[in-house]
Amino acid sequence: MINRGLIERYRTYLPVSPKTRVITLNEGSTPLVQANNLSEAIDPKFDIYLKYEGLNPTGSFKDRGMTMAITRAVEDGFKAVMCASTGNTSASAAAYAARAKIKCIVLIPDGKIALGKLSQAMIHGAKVIQIKGNFDDALKLVRKICEEQPIQLVNSVNPYRIEGQKTGAFEIVDDFEGVAPDFHALPVGNAGNITAYWKGFKEYVASGKSKNLPRMLGFQAAGSAPIVLGHPIENPQTFATAIRIGNPASWKQAEAARDESNGVIGMVTDHEIRLAYQKVAATEGIFCEPASAASIAGVIKLVESGYFNDVKPYTGDRIRITCVLTGHGLKDPDNAIKAAEEPITVEADEYAVLDAIGIEEPALV
Ligand code: F0G
Repeated sequence: MINRGLIERYRTYLPVSPKTRVITLNEGSTPLVQANNLSEAIDPKFDIYLKYEGLNPTGSFKDRGMTMAITRAVEDGFKAVMCASTGNTSASAAAYAARAKIKCIVLIPDGKIALGKLSQAMIHGAKVIQIKGNFDDALKLVRKICEEQPIQLVNSVNPYRIEGQKTGAFEIVDDFEGVAPDFHALPVGNAGNITAYWKGFKEYVASGKSKNLPRMLGFQAAGSAPIVLGHPIENPQTFATAIRIGNPASWKQAEAARDESNGVIGMVTDHEIRLAYQKVAATEGIFCEPASAASIAGVIKLVESGYFNDVKPYTGDRIRITCVLTGHGLKDPDNAIKAAEEPITVEADEYAVLDAIGIEEPALV
């Protein structure tokens, strides 16, 4: 069966009518990859699954929200959309707006977005405006401009974004045949995604599709951890630029997801994120961007703190944890190159290559 995107797949749960012209790039239905090497390395009593959202059409989970937001923007008569972004939202908005043949304007923090994301917004023809400020400054400007102008705001404060993104939770429960994981971990930036997943998990229980709810585990980068610290951060810092946000728009909803699910919003250092980023690439063959690895780093940290010691799994004898890998590693090649061993250069000569590999002599044939 052809994948016609998540609006078709989950139509009854979404704000569309039979007349709606759906703007889709066949997003969603991303793989839920069992991470045995990672689970074993952490502790074999865990069964970790990676929701590989980097395999969406523009390489991040934003496509789930964007198919819905752009579909409704078109249906509601908008000819232009606008967003503030640390990169992925701008890439996704630019692609879906191009497909819908409407204008897209993106505001990004000057010099603080990964190269892959910038290239996407540019090639899809968005008007890219870099501001001398951070994401929070950009979002404030975008909110004001969209209030005054006939432009639809497509950040996650747009409720259609949350509606689209909640389908990630549906897919996980569907893959587990009607059971939610014991824990669901994800990075937190502007806090739209944790809001959306929690909404999705709850709706699936309400409609009888899921037997249980997960406990939500959200992770911020330590230099950008307003929810953990309990106050906005004026000048947020982290190499995981996707979550370099000091005043999340969905702060209250993220706290509600944490409290209602008896979960945690914690923080992880850049060093911990970098280690998790390398580990998932080197041991599972999965390349995610730095921010995505905050979910894994956070789980590792909680394991070490004994958080899971008294947990009884809902099914089976291992604690099932899903980690959302929110964006593809190719988004941010600079950080990948910095985090890995440098390539070596040798003469185009067999002995030189063998020497570089560490083999003394060519084998005799
Ligand atoms: N991971 C990645 C790769 C992201 O791009 C983002 C957010 C998050 C996690 C956090 O999700 O904001 O819903 O809590 N990126 C936004 C953007 C802010 O502009 O692309 P959130």
